[in-house]
Amino acid sequence: MNTVTTLAELRRARSHLAGPVGLVPTMGYLHAGHISLARRARAECASVAASIFVNPTQFAPTEDLAKYPRDLPRDLALLESAGVGLVWTPTSEGMYPPSYQTWVDVEKLTQRLEGAVRPTHFRGVTTVVAKLFNAVQPDKAYFGQKDAQQAAVIRRMVEDLNFPVDIIVCPIVREADGLAMSSRNVYLSPEERKGATVLFRGLSAAKAAYEQGERSAAALRRIVEEMIATEPLAKLQYVSCADYDTLAELETVSRKALLSMAVYFGKTRLIDNFVLE
Ligand code: PAJ
Repeated sequence: MNTVTTLAELRRARSHLAGPVGLVPTMGYLHAGHISLARRARAECASVAASIFVNPTQFAPTEDLAKYPRDLPRDLALLESAGVGLVWTPTSEGMYPPSYQTWVDVEKLTQRLEGAVRPTHFRGVTTVVAKLFNAVQPDKAYFGQKDAQQAAVIRRMVEDLNFPVDIIVCPIVREADGLAMSSRNVYLSPEERKGATVLFRGLSAAKAAYEQGERSAAALRRIVEEMIATEPLAKLQYVSCADYDTLAELETVSRKALLSMAVYFGKTRLIDNFVLE
């Protein structure tokens, strides 16, 4: 496995990769969710490239950029064993030199859900993903359903800006007790970690009601809210039952929908979602 830092090194290494090339963009501190993307890419592409970059522009000043967990040696070992051939670990200065002033902004989809509570987040995501695509020029790029809105926003960007990249969205990988894997789970105290299963329990309860015929979005949201309220350490930020494509809040679930939420445990913010179809 080849690990490179500068754009020039990346371009040189990229030119030697057999196609099709799959790209797995990450911020590191990898877990089985990230590795599932790399394995899927390995199964579908002749070469797999991954990026590890804790992208400063997608963090608000109040967010956890400085203390975002990092472990590069471990990440590289995991990527290598997943069959990744090329890893790009750009620096912040390389990605955003002092003269930097160009942004990619998907306008409407980013106003909702995560974008409503993290107003500068998606501009940072789409800008860095556009830069990663231009640098690596992958044929396919792999994202997780864990960040459902991110996947939708990137799909929109790719279509709007004619990126010649197939976006592949992979299922959420969970711990045995249902908690969605996340680099941020390490911030949870043992008590918070136990309580954090309430997200999965809330989504599961709403899904069970949906499967028994409940179609009122308000009723489905209320089932999640009531489950979160049973966990004293959990503070619900939002729960949404929205159209899968537009992310507009629904009254009635009559087509594919995204049931999603954000919950605080102390300072740690967790997100999770189920698709209803
Ligand atoms: P990061 O949070 O490191 O996640 C990298 C990719 O792994 C994302 O596509 C995310 O949805 C996916 N992922 C995370 N947890 C997952 C899980 N439990 N199951 C399946 N996939 C999971 O998302 C980012 O980084 C950044 O915003 C990035 C796209 C790299 C741009 O900076």
